[in-house]
Amino acid sequence: MKIIAGNWKMNMTRRETLEYFERYAGLNPDKSGARVIFLVPYTAISTAVETGENLGFEVGAQNVYPAAAGAYTGEITADMIKDCGAKVVLVGHSERRTLFRESDTFINEKLRCVLDAGLSAILCVGETAKERENDETEGVLWRQITMALDKLPDLSKLIIAYEPVWAVGKTADGKSKKPATSQQIADAHAFIKTILTGFTDANDIPVLYGGNVKSETSGEIMRIPNVDGVLVGGASLKVEEFSKIIESSSALLN
Ligand code: 13P
Repeated sequence: MKIIAGNWKMNMTRRETLEYFERYAGLNPDKSGARVIFLVPYTAISTAVETGENLGFEVGAQNVYPAAAGAYTGEITADMIKDCGAKVVLVGHSERRTLFRESDTFINEKLRCVLDAGLSAILCVGETAKERENDETEGVLWRQITMALDKLPDLSKLIIAYEPVWAVGKTADGKSKKPATSQQIADAHAFIKTILTGFTDANDIPVLYGGNVKSETSGEIMRIPNVDGVLVGGASLKVEEFSKIIESSSALLN
């Protein structure tokens, strides 16, 4: 069983969310090969949960604040996310690390809150283009993972997503970035699995790949050893395209 997660980022109103899932229901993609998760904006969580119950997917948030309550204007707790019916929270996405300067320590605090609340967490890790050029990929992955997982008591609901920053999203002139090669993905995933052997109970942590995943490539990517699924950005906003990605995981069962 693969995990297919769609990260909508800062897109989709409640009406657009409803329309998306009406079309999704019409397409009714074969998801027998996948656990499907939609990571939606906070404002669309309830709408997605209400629709999602019948359609058999999980809904998640894209961020959280690591405190139980209090004077943190504009922030949202893990319990509030849970209260809206979400089951998953994305933590440490490269856009948050870069645009909002989230540190490895802060990401560790967020993960602790999410897992303590009984929610699943998807932790994003990955190197920048410069770090790869400088041959620092393994060092970066090691630091991001060991710091994020530091002293977490229970990793049973943790998922990791390897998203090389240089392969995520679009270039300044609006073109999709170059996806990682199968070999680059295989090497990074094997290395991440090795890091995880250092943690008790970490053997079964799924590792997803993210960065320019499209329906033409998703099946091939999910065949790479140690790739347990995909985290999809732009292509998850197009319901036909995302349905094909879901179906590509079911095709792997045959
Ligand atoms: P793209 O699929 O648009 O490259 O985005 C990947 C991503 O950031 C998912 O979290």
